[in-house]
Amino acid sequence: MAQMAVDGGVSAMIVTPHCNMRYQNFYTPDLIEHKRHFQNMLREYQIPLKLYFGMEIMGSYDVGQQLRAGRLATLNDSRYPLVEFHFTGSGQEETEILDSILRHGYRPIVAHPERYLYVQEQPELLNTWGEMGCLFQINRGSLLGRFGQRAEELSYSMVDRGYADVVASDAHSATQRTPWMADVREMLEEEFSQEVAYTLLEKNPRRILEDRDMPKRMVNWF
Ligand SMILES: [Fe+2]
Repeated sequence: MAQMAVDGGVSAMIVTPHCNMRYQNFYTPDLIEHKRHFQNMLREYQIPLKLYFGMEIMGSYDVGQQLRAGRLATLNDSRYPLVEFHFTGSGQEETEILDSILRHGYRPIVAHPERYLYVQEQPELLNTWGEMGCLFQINRGSLLGRFGQRAEELSYSMVDRGYADVVASDAHSATQRTPWMADVREMLEEEFSQEVAYTLLEKNPRRILEDRDMPKRMVNWF
């Protein structure tokens, strides 16, 4: 996967193992050990990929508290935690959870909102979340139509209307949901512009990595 990422134009990656309170896989010494092992392997195989760590945190009411306590990790120790939700819901609980994370002093990046059924049904939720201060990460696969027509359409209009902050791989393996990013870059350049591709794939991800402020977004409201 690392070699594939590099071959597809990626130079740095934040790896984000799932973190679900139900499974109790917190940011433990185990993960730190994995990180060291992974970095050693990259060196051994001479793969020029810079590696950073984070988590894809399943949203729940205690996420803010757990982040403060150091039991959950943000992206590269920034103010930005990557937070996902279940695919079904009402949007109400999700909004409350995001609000609580913000009140703990973090700026959540909502993982693949275009895939949530309730966001597909009420994209106005993105106005609420955006106004609250949340950021939005879109999956490469959504833009390429791998997660169905509704996710494809919503991801496209999120980029088109200025809601997208970051496009990421959501990579899970070297065969399905891969870290190959060359195709989505090409798609963004062709359908939108080089500037859009650069912003979503390089400029904004770097800001997050360096824990810098994100620009206020100008959106065409849903
Ligand atoms: Fe996810």
